[in-house]
Amino acid sequence: MPAMFQQKLTACAMAVEAALDDLLSRAVRPGELRRPERLLAAMRHAALGGGKRLRPFLVVETAALFGVPPNAALRAACAIEMVHCYSLVHDDLPAMDDDDLRRGRPTVHRAFDEATAILAGDCLLTYAFEIAADPATHPDPALRAELVRIVARASGLGGMAGGQALDLEAERRETPLDLDETVEMQAMKTGALIAVSVEAGALMGGADAAQTRALATFGQAIGTAFQIADDLLDHRGDATTLGKRAGKDAARNKATLVARLGVAAAERRRDDLVDDAIAALNSVGAGERTGVLEAAARFVAGRSS
Ligand code: IPE
Ligand code: IPE
Ligand code: MG
Ligand code: MG
Ligand code: MG
Repeated sequence: MPAMFQQKLTACAMAVEAALDDLLSRAVRPGELRRPERLLAAMRHAALGGGKRLRPFLVVETAALFGVPPNAALRAACAIEMVHCYSLVHDDLPAMDDDDLRRGRPTVHRAFDEATAILAGDCLLTYAFEIAADPATHPDPALRAELVRIVARASGLGGMAGGQALDLEAERRETPLDLDETVEMQAMKTGALIAVSVEAGALMGGADAAQTRALATFGQAIGTAFQIADDLLDHRGDATTLGKRAGKDAARNKATLVARLGVAAAERRRDDLVDDAIAALNSVGAGERTGVLEAAARFVAGRSS
């Protein structure tokens, strides 16, 4: 991985950590009555101290293509990371993937309890939209409304949560999802939130319609590649490196491209998607400034956790 990319990703992760730590502080904010201690602790467990922070990185670096300083995109980036963290808390619940390890630590329902995990997820999701709608995130109210709209669309029925429903349904089906259905389910459960991270960056940067389309194509391609990489890591990774259990997809009869196509073809598809993503970047017309996003696309395929 290019040292420059790793440095930028680490710097972004540190900035996100500090901003989330502040947003999730014990201090009651104007208009709030109280921040219940145990619930806040569960939210902090879910959101702080781990994760690659790839989604916020995509927001910040896409906005940077258009000259937006990293700090100016940080709150929008944190909002999307909160949605992601909520999705992980709920994904790990006994009623869903029933996992006990996440980011190298016990999952939220294990460290606390199920009800607290459900509510911590609810609070991270709703807090994300409060942040997106807050004037401190961007001075233009119309832009903030659009940010809320696209993040909500990516998170809900036709996006992440809808994809999670299809993922769970697929476990119990007698006839497995076919290839197209699997790809669509993955584009929803994982691709949508990654794609909207790029779109949010384009929005913050004032990208024109053609640039936004090209960046959306980039985001969708790396989003799909990301889940194929996750499935490959589940297949051959180990819990110590991953910070989460491996080998669970086959055990739970999950619909994955590894199951549908086998390892070699899944790898080829992942790599083809990275090539498609990089090709889409070339039509953004931002010259060499897209190099960081190109490195992000390669990171998605080559990562080991
Ligand atoms: C894991 O996402 C869940 C999927 C969508 C596959 P990440 O691999 O981005 O998890 P963190 O945030 O780095 O822990
Ligand atoms: C999760 O996919 C997608 C989400 C929306 C959280 P996985 O179930 O494969 O994610 P991991 O492997 O538990 O991180
Ligand atoms: Mg899952
Ligand atoms: Mg899971
Ligand atoms: Mg997985």
